[in-house]
Amino acid sequence: MSQALSSLLNQYRANQRCLAGFNINDIYDLHAVALAANELDLPFMAMTYPPVAELNGTWLCRKMVDGFERIAKNKIYLHLDHSTSVDLCKKAIDDGYDSVMIDGSHHDIKTNIKMTQEVVKYARSAGVCVEAEIGKIMGRDVVVKSEDDYLASVADVVALCEEAGPDIVAVGIGTAHGFTPTTPKIHFERLKQIADAVPNPLVLHGGTGIADEDIQKSITMGIAKINIGTIVHTTYMRETHNEISKDVKAAYPPFIMKDVIPRVQEVVVDRLKAVNPHL
Ligand code: 13P
Repeated sequence: MSQALSSLLNQYRANQRCLAGFNINDIYDLHAVALAANELDLPFMAMTYPPVAELNGTWLCRKMVDGFERIAKNKIYLHLDHSTSVDLCKKAIDDGYDSVMIDGSHHDIKTNIKMTQEVVKYARSAGVCVEAEIGKIMGRDVVVKSEDDYLASVADVVALCEEAGPDIVAVGIGTAHGFTPTTPKIHFERLKQIADAVPNPLVLHGGTGIADEDIQKSITMGIAKINIGTIVHTTYMRETHNEISKDVKAAYPPFIMKDVIPRVQEVVVDRLKAVNPHL
């Protein structure tokens, strides 16, 4: 199944296309993303962060996405995002995820390679795609002191790809998770050096705060997957809050969600257009 994903991402890198991954939390935001992807006739990646996978169980997340495949015009790839646990990756693989990310970026390079090797070995027989990370994505609890702290080292990317063999690699090139006070400065020079050094499709994290032109430029330089999360869940939570606040005593989930889903869908369509300017 994910051999197909891995080869799709290789094709995307070769053709300067990019798969959008959206962090989803439940049936309602997934519904909005699926409708948006249908609107533009695109496949997408539904990504669960570890708290979502742990709260609901990877098995239920798989079944939820299976359900949406009935209404999706194109493939939905289910991905475990930013797992720092090898065991959680194995669980997701056992439960049929198409793709898992083992994030060893907070460890030294040797440990990162070792963790990635273990997940790649486990994923291979199941045909599951593996994403690894070098460098750091800023924001949230990641505090960096200097560029050396977060910028992916080319030598480390090469070592990780050669020794562990992940399918795709997330690279720290200046982006941050979530809303940032100023637009993050992307280090395109470093992206070019990395893309020249390894053939793997590269992944851009922190999609919410990246300017459209930077997204598009990075896609011409080896980025074949982009992760977008905060803009989706904050729209979802804000709009839900606004609707509930109108009459809290009468708040009934399907009536609230009927109004919230199209607003989340609108935001997702906007981001999908930024990633696919040819549409
Ligand atoms: P944003 O929340 O900034 O969109 O980033 C999402 C992400 O990179 C998930 O891995």
